[in-house]
Amino acid sequence: MSDALLEALGAARPLVWSNPDYRPAEDPQAQAELKIALADWDAAAGLLAALFPETGPEGRIRSRLVPVPQGVLPAGVPGSVFMKADNDLPVAGSVKARGGLFEVVTTAIAQAREAGLLAEGEDAAKLASPELRDFFRARTMSVGSTGNLGLSVGITARALGYRAVVHMSADAKAWKVKRLTDLGVSVIQHASDYTAAVAAARDAAALDPLCHFVDDEDSPTLFRGYSASAAELAEELAAQGIEIGPERPLMVYLPCGVGGAPGGTAQGLRAVFGANAHGFFCEPVQAPSGLVRLAYKGKYKTVYDVGLTNKTEADGMAVATFSDFVAGRMEERLAGAFTVGDDTLFTYLLKAHDQMGEKLEPSAASAFRGPEMVMLSDDAAGFRAQHLAGVDPAQVVHVVWATGGRFVPEAQYSAFVTEARKLALV
Ligand SMILES: Cc1ncc(COP(=O)(O)O)c(C=O)c1O
Repeated sequence: MSDALLEALGAARPLVWSNPDYRPAEDPQAQAELKIALADWDAAAGLLAALFPETGPEGRIRSRLVPVPQGVLPAGVPGSVFMKADNDLPVAGSVKARGGLFEVVTTAIAQAREAGLLAEGEDAAKLASPELRDFFRARTMSVGSTGNLGLSVGITARALGYRAVVHMSADAKAWKVKRLTDLGVSVIQHASDYTAAVAAARDAAALDPLCHFVDDEDSPTLFRGYSASAAELAEELAAQGIEIGPERPLMVYLPCGVGGAPGGTAQGLRAVFGANAHGFFCEPVQAPSGLVRLAYKGKYKTVYDVGLTNKTEADGMAVATFSDFVAGRMEERLAGAFTVGDDTLFTYLLKAHDQMGEKLEPSAASAFRGPEMVMLSDDAAGFRAQHLAGVDPAQVVHVVWATGGRFVPEAQYSAFVTEARKLALV
């Protein structure tokens, strides 16, 4: 591994890393897992519609695909650019609705089936009925989180009647803690980072046989839930008349913390688009846990080991140690990763606000840097030569994944916008 990469990482310089082991190809494992994910979402649809009217009569958690207008990205970035508006997802207001909510409802269905309270094939909407309340009230859902996963798990668990416990890291924003406590969720705040909060949550959950622990570092269920987003994206692109193929490749930029959300989506993309989609993780310069894990194959375990602080305004991405489970899934499936400074978060939070009327939290704005980094930077020249050779750059379709924002309280959001305007002036 080149020392130049280590030096640039340690100096917190924004950079692109192309994965030398990347093998874009048809992917039967990804396809089989996506099929299961879609069937599980279908089985939960009646329950979602009953619990959360905002998911519509179809009980679907889905977001808009929005064209990014000219002027948001720097001039000269080739191709068409879209934003996947998970910042506005129903129920949890972030991408975590695709994972945490999914794990809670699929676990509830499995528990009810096992207890003989729900027959195979019976509509899971029954789980929202008052008779099931006592069954769920005796049980607990627990999770460790930087904030948004806790919201997604807490909201869904409480809606079903579970007790809910969320262990939060020191980075967790006060408004996320308040929102959870208002819902009757027990919040345990740790002075430590996210990795330590998850470990504490895991240990506490192990003492209670009626507690289900949503393990953000190691959950195939969470991962499966997220993966279904790729099928949704395929429907939306098709509805806009965009056919992804060898001459019209898809590039997707995914904000990354511990890896479940972006990893699940990246694997789903492989299932749906085969070799024609390329997923990139996007990480804070001070917390590139996925890049460190994948580039150094475990030689450096945490971002602290390469001299970084894990401090960033992108609270959802303030993760020092990447998931081993997701690392295994990404080895050949991830095109690469890039890092951004906190100034980038505020630049794009403001552009999305002013030019698109979209409300993002800082983590969610990070992916907007992707098209420029991957299409124009010297760092990514090797990727372009290997994977975009012969492709007209104007044909490339870019999707920046905006991962959260809807629930940010107005006072906090205007503080972000004011801060961003100040930074834009300097
Ligand atoms: C807004 C936002 N974006 C991105 C992420 C990263 O997701 P993951 O930790 O699954 O990689 C998170 C995680 O909480 C988040 O809250």
